Amino acid sequence: MGNLPGRGDGPAVNSAYDDPVQILVTGGAGFIGSNFVHHLVANTDAYVTVLDKLTYASSEASLRGLPEDRVRLVVGDIADAAVVEPLVAESDAVVHYAAESHNDNSLSDPAPFVQTNIVGTFVLLEAVRRHDVRFHHVSTDEVYGDLDLDDLKRFTEDTPYQPSSPYSASKAGSDHLVRAWVRSFGVRATISNCSNNYGPWQHVEKFIPRQITEVIEGRRPRVYGDGLNVRDWIHTDDHSSAVWAILSHGRIGETYLIGADGEKSNVDVVRAILRHFGRPEDDIEWVTDRAGHDRRYAIESGKLRSELGWEPKYQDFDKGLAATIAWYQENAAWWSPMKHETEAKYAAKGQ
Ligand SMILES: NC(=O)c1ccc[n+]([C@@H]2O[C@H](COP(=O)([O-])OP(=O)(O)OC[C@H]3O[C@@H](n4cnc5c(N)ncnc54)[C@H](O)[C@@H]3O)[C@@H](O)[C@H]2O)c1
Repeated sequence: MGNLPGRGDGPAVNSAYDDPVQILVTGGAGFIGSNFVHHLVANTDAYVTVLDKLTYASSEASLRGLPEDRVRLVVGDIADAAVVEPLVAESDAVVHYAAESHNDNSLSDPAPFVQTNIVGTFVLLEAVRRHDVRFHHVSTDEVYGDLDLDDLKRFTEDTPYQPSSPYSASKAGSDHLVRAWVRSFGVRATISNCSNNYGPWQHVEKFIPRQITEVIEGRRPRVYGDGLNVRDWIHTDDHSSAVWAILSHGRIGETYLIGADGEKSNVDVVRAILRHFGRPEDDIEWVTDRAGHDRRYAIESGKLRSELGWEPKYQDFDKGLAATIAWYQENAAWWSPMKHETEAKYAAKGQ
């Protein structure tokens, strides 16, 4: 196994990995974590251990076809120190994706969000601290709260934290823990805050797959409130390449914002999906708004681009969306079993 970049303040930019490394990916059976595992296998010589509790949001199928001599799955909870300790001890780096990730669920039951996102991150930090293992923490731009629709500002690494929901508050809490462990204990960590992801293997409870699968099943897509809320979309392949750039070249203790200039209102995304299926653009079911629904997110990712030379592959949202729609059309066998239950939950809330 090769050595990872050194501890502390060191050089401005760490040297890249030049040998195979052992990487622990928490939440690696989820939507974004599994994409990162594929990215590692395709683009590096790393050996990967996935630690995942396999919650409702996970999919073992997303890891199918990966080489067994390079990727193994350990089923377990990141908040369980006895499980985490030996896995961290044998790793050169931990990339931490595991989380409860759905805002709506955090409004109906915040407890698992505090347990996994805050306590789980604490358990991992204590383990990487004990074993001096490089740590990358994957977080969200939702920690910054929201922007007004008519505000031209975008989030930067210096934007003050102002989370709105139990989900974003729990992610904000975990970010603060990571910073404190860097400062107080010299843990070699970086943080990334990324905008909204789309792509294959995303649970049908999430906005884009929900709308695509509603249309595939012959119903109208469902838009919250007035539909003007803006999200800054990034394809999950681009999130993965950015996380790898930060893990391999990022400066210890730094935060990097990840975004691909993909600002779109919810209603515009739904119209693009309807256009793709040749349906009228106003064929929309308007539903009750989510409580405390953030208005606009927008990411300024200049630091990541200028310092680490990262660029997104999907600069054109419509292209990424078309690829994602094609994937959901071809993979109905994967998502249909979870579709009915998901819609029943939304229906109970009038959404
Ligand atoms: N989805 C987005 O748009 C987005 C944007 C920015 C950042 N993020 C962050 O990226 C990460 C991954 O998000 P995602 O959309 O892939 O989520 P996801 O819900 O699809 O996957 C989360 C994974 O974590 C696992 N997990 C949950 N609790 C666990 C626990 N206690 N122990 C071990 N494993 C556990 C689940 O089984 C699942 O496989 C999260 O940290 C999220 O905050 C997501």
